Amino acid sequence: MTTPRPETVAKLTPVLTKRWLSPDAWRIGTYEQLDGYAALRKALKAHPDDLIQLIKDSGLRGRGGAGFPTGLKWGFIPQGDGKPHYLVVNADEGEPGTCKDLPLMTHDPHALVEGVIIASYAIRANRAYIYIRGEAVHAARRLRNAVQEAYDEGYLGRNILRSGYDLELVVHSGAGAYICGEETALLDSLEGFRGQPRLRPPFPATHGLYASPTVVNNVGTIASVPPIVLGGADWWKSMGTEKSSGPMIYSLSGRIVNPGQYECSMGVTLRELLELAGGMQPGHNLRFWTPGGSSTPLLAAEHLDVPLDFEGVAAAGSILGTTATQIFSDQDCPVYATYRWLEFYHHESCGKCTPCREGNYWMVRVYRRILAGQGTHEDLDTLLDTCDNILGRSFCGLGDGATSSVTSSLKYFKQDYLDYIEGRTAPKLSEKTLVGAH
Ligand SMILES: Cc1cc2nc3c(=O)[nH]c(=O)nc-3n(C[C@H](O)[C@H](O)[C@H](O)COP(=O)(O)O)c2cc1C
Ligand code: SF4
Repeated sequence: MTTPRPETVAKLTPVLTKRWLSPDAWRIGTYEQLDGYAALRKALKAHPDDLIQLIKDSGLRGRGGAGFPTGLKWGFIPQGDGKPHYLVVNADEGEPGTCKDLPLMTHDPHALVEGVIIASYAIRANRAYIYIRGEAVHAARRLRNAVQEAYDEGYLGRNILRSGYDLELVVHSGAGAYICGEETALLDSLEGFRGQPRLRPPFPATHGLYASPTVVNNVGTIASVPPIVLGGADWWKSMGTEKSSGPMIYSLSGRIVNPGQYECSMGVTLRELLELAGGMQPGHNLRFWTPGGSSTPLLAAEHLDVPLDFEGVAAAGSILGTTATQIFSDQDCPVYATYRWLEFYHHESCGKCTPCREGNYWMVRVYRRILAGQGTHEDLDTLLDTCDNILGRSFCGLGDGATSSVTSSLKYFKQDYLDYIEGRTAPKLSEKTLVGAH
């Protein structure tokens, strides 16, 4: 295990995670002792438009994967339209490898609740929802408890802190489908329909929940709002890089000594994160990794010094995504890892559009053939051709994301595929998995 050098430890910037290790961090008493609800008191004295401007000035970008500027999104909500406005928090967190929102809601649920109240006030919403995935029972329990505590203390409900502002907050548990993390599928699911993406335009900003103006934001995005209100836009921008401001929770998993969440200024590198996480496990050398979950193209050992911000990762040919860095070693097989991810996408495809529904079905079968030692050279062309027909031709981002590990593993690790096809690597799957594969 490597001990991080002081200059690397200094890269840690605990803002969203700063209360996680406090005793009973999830209780309102602890939260209030540690700055909790001070930002709300300040925000309720400000004009909602000034809050939107503050978030714009901070440069905060969505933490749900796409990095859309949050203040801009809030500014799209038409004002004075006479319609109800809604804030919907996306707490579905279903991307393989991603594990920043559930720990946040488990350890510090009031940070999210306070963010919800401020954001709702800014966009003039009197009703907000937190859509949490069904399996996350423990986090949902903590969250519901926090919401009740906030009601009891007058932070939610009618006339919040005697400001004249009313907000009702509902925690809604989904049934556990990855597609319900896609914001329009989430809205359909919340309305009681089967979770499938909606055609856009119109966008949720004008026609969201119940066809009304709606902001959908990730848990980490909303939990960033109270610290920005308290610390100011310049303080927030003092962390991170020019276009990717602030701290970010990087979730490290895989072949490392200390997996977990490491909150650092955006732009930290994997080399630094690995140092913080105690290095690779003994006997393992880094071979490939995802910078932001399974939907982001794989990177290799040569990318250790890529700045992990939106621009840096894009320049390296991948996507920052949800900053879920899954670390694989020279003892892991990129072909098999890609197959397992594809099984996931095939299973989670909602079936609405042909490229994703059929393409993932076929790619899983091609992978089984290769991994069972019966692949052909032509299969590699078939995979690339199928990806070409899914990427950019699917109805939503799930289809695009499914292709990421296929194309990137073929780019960096084609030899691993050839080793299966040409018989140098022993088959990993038995022929039984090939039933219906041809
Ligand atoms: C298949 C799929 C799954 C998604 N899952 C999530 C999720 O679990 N949580 C999330 O915040 N965003 C998820 N997103 C992104 C959302 O559609 C949306 O961009 C995000 O919630 C916007 O919030 P932000 O601007 O705060 O990042 C997903 C997108 C796709 C295509
Ligand atoms: S890309 Fe996949 S998940 Fe998205 S709409 Fe099409 S079938 Fe459904």
